[in-house]
Amino acid sequence: MDLLEVMRGRRSVLRFRPDPIPNEHLEKILEAGRWAPSYANTQPWKFIVVRNPERKKALGAQVERILVFRPGRVALSSPGLGEAPVVIAVVVDPARDPLHHLEAGAAAAQNMALMAHALGYASFWAGVAGRGDVERQIKKLLGVPRSMRMVALLPLGKPAYEPEPKERLPLSEIVVQESMG
Ligand SMILES: Cc1cc2nc3c(=O)[nH]c(=O)nc-3n(C[C@H](O)[C@H](O)[C@H](O)COP(=O)(O)O)c2cc1C
Repeated sequence: MDLLEVMRGRRSVLRFRPDPIPNEHLEKILEAGRWAPSYANTQPWKFIVVRNPERKKALGAQVERILVFRPGRVALSSPGLGEAPVVIAVVVDPARDPLHHLEAGAAAAQNMALMAHALGYASFWAGVAGRGDVERQIKKLLGVPRSMRMVALLPLGKPAYEPEPKERLPLSEIVVQESMG
């Protein structure tokens, strides 16, 4: 697939079929994360591959706490974490890069989401960075040291439904020539 086609075609999908992801595909997805850029090539990330059903369910229960004010989404995205065959948790270490660890983790997460889509899998980005107690509880569930930060949880699996098309703001609204001043 053409790169722009992959980028345009990737949609957040919140529910998954249980079909397993072959190791060869999972490795490609993780490899895409490994090749993300980072400040001075510090590579401050760890990618935690979660397959244990109870642990995935527990992650879903934490994400549900974030979505409590968006009732339409609660029913969808928290079970999605439990049913996806694999959840990749992207974690970063500020000790490796005190300045730009979160951006680096975000770049890795997006690389993995794009590769997953190119291989026929769906995902959504559960944004758990900076979510106070939710981030703390997720770190506990995954044995992540307190000094590290969560960036995202990426459930991965075959999509259980066809996502609606989405729009983006036109370039004319977001591109600025030279200066905003
Ligand atoms: C930083 C970030 C945090 C997000 N957090 C959540 C989330 O907690 N739950 C969720 O269902 N989707 C989450 N999303 C997915 C967005 O809602 C989705 O990307 C956006 O609506 C655009 O849709 P698309 O991904 O299908 O293009 C997040 C996306 C980003 C980049």
